[in-house]
Amino acid sequence: MAIEHEVETTGLVGWIDRRFPLTSTWKKHVSEYYAPKNFNFWYFFGSLALLVLVNQIVTGIFLTMNYKPDATLAFSSVEYIMREVPWGWLIRYMHSTGASMFFVVVYLHMFRGLMYGSYRKPRELVWVFGCAIFLCLMAEAFFGYLLPWGQMSFWGAQVIVNLFSAIPFIGPDLSLWIRGDYVVSDVTLNRFFAFHVIAIPLVLIGLVVAHLVALHEVGSNNPDGIEIKAKKGPDGIPLDGIPFHPYYSVHDFMGVSVFLMIFAAIIFFAPEMGGYFLEANNFIPANPLQTPQEIAPVWYFTAFYAMLRATTDPFKIVLMIIIALLGLFALVRARGKWKLGLPVLAVLVVLAMAFTESKFWGVVVMGGAVISLFFLPWLDRSPVKSIRYRPFFHKVFYGIFVLAFLTLGFLGTKPPSPASTLIAQVCALIYFAFFLGMPVWTKLGTFKQPPERVRFKPH
Ligand code: HEM
Repeated sequence: MAIEHEVETTGLVGWIDRRFPLTSTWKKHVSEYYAPKNFNFWYFFGSLALLVLVNQIVTGIFLTMNYKPDATLAFSSVEYIMREVPWGWLIRYMHSTGASMFFVVVYLHMFRGLMYGSYRKPRELVWVFGCAIFLCLMAEAFFGYLLPWGQMSFWGAQVIVNLFSAIPFIGPDLSLWIRGDYVVSDVTLNRFFAFHVIAIPLVLIGLVVAHLVALHEVGSNNPDGIEIKAKKGPDGIPLDGIPFHPYYSVHDFMGVSVFLMIFAAIIFFAPEMGGYFLEANNFIPANPLQTPQEIAPVWYFTAFYAMLRATTDPFKIVLMIIIALLGLFALVRARGKWKLGLPVLAVLVVLAMAFTESKFWGVVVMGGAVISLFFLPWLDRSPVKSIRYRPFFHKVFYGIFVLAFLTLGFLGTKPPSPASTLIAQVCALIYFAFFLGMPVWTKLGTFKQPPERVRFKPH
């Protein structure tokens, strides 16, 4: 039986309801959105991501009122905000801390999805929109980082834009087109400003709306990974569902309160976070004639940056051998002509790798690490969604994957050495093996039978 969305008929709300779906939208998405009753700690991060998004937009608007997107003025306009504008320092620290906290929250939010199989049918689009959000967030952070026009802003942008020049044939022209100049300059600053303050935020907001609409269409997953809609009462309401409001609005309010305490503690006591949130080199104005000793991105990019740096010439050869072996394996398994696609693709990729520089393949590896996430719903073949009911060795694989990712993140913050490059290469291989091997390993082992109804202990 379908749930009726009654409409208020009296008073001001009634007047609005006859002209705009106010009450019915509130009911559908809030007071009569039935979420599983067993949400845990990991379910705080979606609403926290929304909170940080709002924080970034509001503080960003106020920063824009005093910031100057001009290469001769940008650095001093940020100093002006910090020293002269009333409460400017707070707005700026809320924005810079918010950027890092956005990634903390989103990484944890994604990890929850990974643990409970929230990307599996019917939530594939929720996940795909999420991955697109993640890409946008990376672009948003990258464009924003150029704006203070410090040494790290300038040289970081220089390094990343130069990566495009490694693309065969079109690369050099492409990076020139992105910069709008032969080096990162005032022209680059102006276009990055436009992307940071309007273009990407618009796309980001659109994607977040799509993410939530898709989620509310299919309903939330939960730590047990079972569908609550499969068991409904005579009123059509899932037996294990509770209305989002007031139950989860109160629950999320608690999460928001704790988060704000941590957020405020960082802003007031450690806004630079030991150089991880704001890098020391970025307190020096951009100098195109002096390259800093070390150029390292902010912590949230370092895992991907470490993969880029790990793609050396010898590593390219290792990758070529692995791809050739995978192609051979696909050839052995191919029984008809129509299955020759993969072996042929492998040969083409190996040939392409032989004739192009490793820097380009570093970019491919780095990009591939993010793009792989999109395919997760179709790579995971496990009969159960949640980690709770998977074999023990699956948990070990998840643990190794997380450890490899954290190690890459750590190594990306340090200058490279032969030993650290080798470790990064092993971790990069683990990262890709986790995803590429999924169609095989997720089917193996003895699975526990998930319960009929969600497990829940009132507290
Ligand atoms: C601006 C960034 C984001 C915002 C504001 C956001 C917001 C939300 C909210 C409010 C929820 C419902 C509450 C919850 O389940 O925690 C949710 C669920 C979900 N999000 Fe996001 N999200 C963001 C980024 C992402 C990313 C990057 C991914 C994955 C790549 C993702 C994947 C998911 C999934 C799979 C669910 C459903 C979880 C479940 O039902 O178990 N989200 N998101």
